[in-house]
Amino acid sequence: MTEKRIVLGVTGGVAAYKACELVRLCVKAGIAVDVVMTQAGEHFVTAVTFQALSGRRVYTDLWDASIPNNMAHIELTRDATGIVVVPATADFMAKLVHGRADDLLSTLIVARQSTCPLLVAPAMNVEMWQNPATQRNAAQLRADGITLLGPGKGDQACGETGDGRMLEPEDIFRSIQALFSPKLLAGKRVLITAGPTQEPIDPVRVITNHSSGKMGFAIAAAARAAGAEVTLVCGPVTLPSPIGVSRVDVQTAREMFDAVKLHVGRSDVFIAVAAVADYFVVDSSKQKIKKDGSGKLLLELAENPDILAYVAALPGAPFCVGFAAESENLLEHAEAKRKRKKLPLLVANLAQEAFGADDNHIMLLDDAGTHTLPRAAKTELARYIVEKVASAIRRQP
Ligand code: C5P
Repeated sequence: MTEKRIVLGVTGGVAAYKACELVRLCVKAGIAVDVVMTQAGEHFVTAVTFQALSGRRVYTDLWDASIPNNMAHIELTRDATGIVVVPATADFMAKLVHGRADDLLSTLIVARQSTCPLLVAPAMNVEMWQNPATQRNAAQLRADGITLLGPGKGDQACGETGDGRMLEPEDIFRSIQALFSPKLLAGKRVLITAGPTQEPIDPVRVITNHSSGKMGFAIAAAARAAGAEVTLVCGPVTLPSPIGVSRVDVQTAREMFDAVKLHVGRSDVFIAVAAVADYFVVDSSKQKIKKDGSGKLLLELAENPDILAYVAALPGAPFCVGFAAESENLLEHAEAKRKRKKLPLLVANLAQEAFGADDNHIMLLDDAGTHTLPRAAKTELARYIVEKVASAIRRQP
């Protein structure tokens, strides 16, 4: 078996200390890490720290005469699954934009093969990140096919707060793991709905449900990791977008329906994870409703469109996956739903166990029968569902 290996570039930002934790996570997962540091990076963490954590030599110098044939800038990346720069400073991003090659890290990046993915985790002060030059550079790097991991928002080492904070090592690690996922959905377009919908009663009140969006977001991330082009249509949730996924935010079921209709024509797979409200309030009030002393309030509700049933009935419909969150008689209700909506695959779970949690207990229902999975993290279940979808569409005529 060939070794799982990445090249980790460390440039000169205080977030370099988080790269240490990232190396530890990779090594624990059996991924070898060749660390390449810039001179500025060495001001923050020493090469010895990375050497101890990675268990390998650390590269810092383009002119290292101790390396046979001095071709580290070529050889280091050749069998690597990717290059990840953590942290990437504003200066290093500017350098990448121009293809500069004046130290080992920038040179090996310019010399990488086009098949070697480059992931970059920017980390800098909020003003540096928002500076038009940095924003131009970030846009150019994306246009060049480089994946930007973050940055996130939050407290910064300099004492200011805002965009520019590096993603946490666990988040970056997930993107590294994704580099090693089999590309089972390469070339496929996957459309996913996630989260709840909110149906306005008046400008300050809504009808909604407890869906957190975690399962749908996990499936979007897993489909992306499997090489799919993913569009995620989501109701109001507080989750960050999975990296590399195109996200469309909506509020109501009817808005979700419109967004799905807009994107579904291009899709090979449709996975409806959203907990869509069954009803909306007819003529929701433009002004906040006041108590009128009668002791009651009557709302007229009308049924929302069934987005999944609509997509499944389209001529040349994509491969459709439904979710059923039930509070009782799970299997019976789920199978009835699968038949009614004419779905090749349905995922069933108990609503009270699934909503908001990080793990879930699910059953898969298809023409072959029912398959119960052991309770597991939603991220792990998402990978399983994606594998299941990939093998089902491979079998399609
Ligand atoms: O709400 P219900 O139990 O019918 O949901 C089953 C499946 O149908 C889910 O996958 C859900 O996302 C989808 N659905 C939908 N549009 C609706 C209601 C449900 O797409 N209006």
